[in-house]
Amino acid sequence: MKCKCIRVLMITLATMIALTGSVLMAQQDKMILDSSKVSKKKGRSVVTFPHYQHIEAGLDCKACHHVYQNGKNVLDESQLEEGNPDIRCSKCHSAKLRLNLQQAFHDQCIGCHVRYQKEKKKTGPRYCGECHIRK
Ligand code: HEC
Ligand code: HEC
Ligand code: HEC
Ligand code: HEC
Repeated sequence: MKCKCIRVLMITLATMIALTGSVLMAQQDKMILDSSKVSKKKGRSVVTFPHYQHIEAGLDCKACHHVYQNGKNVLDESQLEEGNPDIRCSKCHSAKLRLNLQQAFHDQCIGCHVRYQKEKKKTGPRYCGECHIRK
């Protein structure tokens, strides 16, 4: 009897931890993208990016994250860890690359949303004010 009670309690606790864990993740999911620290101009508001919603929609990590070698995406997905500065878009996209940081974000975000729109699939915003929301 006693032992069974403890087991029930343990399972309840484990479930509670699992649930609060996922709630926390869902909250952290909304990333604020703000390139004003790396590029001086600040013409538009920061962008709220629902990172997890994109993964839920079935997109591969490599649809957005990349390390190119001879034109191939050779990214090691174990590098995709919170706080790793090397996976930041700004790590590579500066004035030196064909796409600067703003172009990199725009081409990737809007490019894909337009593609999905053309394929008549559920998609994301394509107009300035939908991403750069005025306060
Ligand atoms: C799908 C979302 C999306 C759309 C649509 C979009 N942007 Fe952006 N834009 C971003 C992201 C993400 C960044 C990089 C983060 C940041 O700096 O805010 C960015 C950065 C910028 C920047 C550089 C940062 C700054 O404030 O100086 C400007 C300027 C800008 N966008 C203007 C526009 C204009 C004008 C349009 C419409 C033609 C537009 N954006 C449409 C997502 C979007
Ligand atoms: C739709 C595009 C997209 C997809 C799909 C995607 N990511 Fe991201 N991810 C981003 C963008 C954009 C950033 C912000 C990069 C920056 O700040 O420069 C980011 C940031 C991150 C970060 C850094 C978080 C931090 O605060 O340090 C991690 C970790 C990460 N992604 C992991 C993943 C993993 C793992 C997957 C696949 C399961 C994935 N991402 C799928 C676009 C995407
Ligand atoms: C390790 C360096 C590196 C990182 C980190 C990186 N890129 Fe790139 N990216 C490149 C290189 C190199 C190319 C190919 C050369 C070029 O087109 O300028 C490229 C190409 C692109 C392209 C052109 C289309 C394509 O995929 O080939 C887009 C859009 C892009 N990057 C957006 C992003 C975004 C958004 C992020 C952050 C989520 C990011 N990049 C992170 C190096 C990087
Ligand atoms: C590879 C394709 C792809 C890329 C890259 C991508 N998105 Fe999306 N986005 C989608 C799809 C698909 C959806 C619809 C997801 C769903 O089914 O809920 C979406 C949805 C969204 C939504 C939510 C719309 C809503 O009303 O629920 C926002 C906001 C958004 N994207 C912003 C961005 C920003 C900002 C970027 C760039 C940092 C980006 N996306 C890059 C495919 C993409």
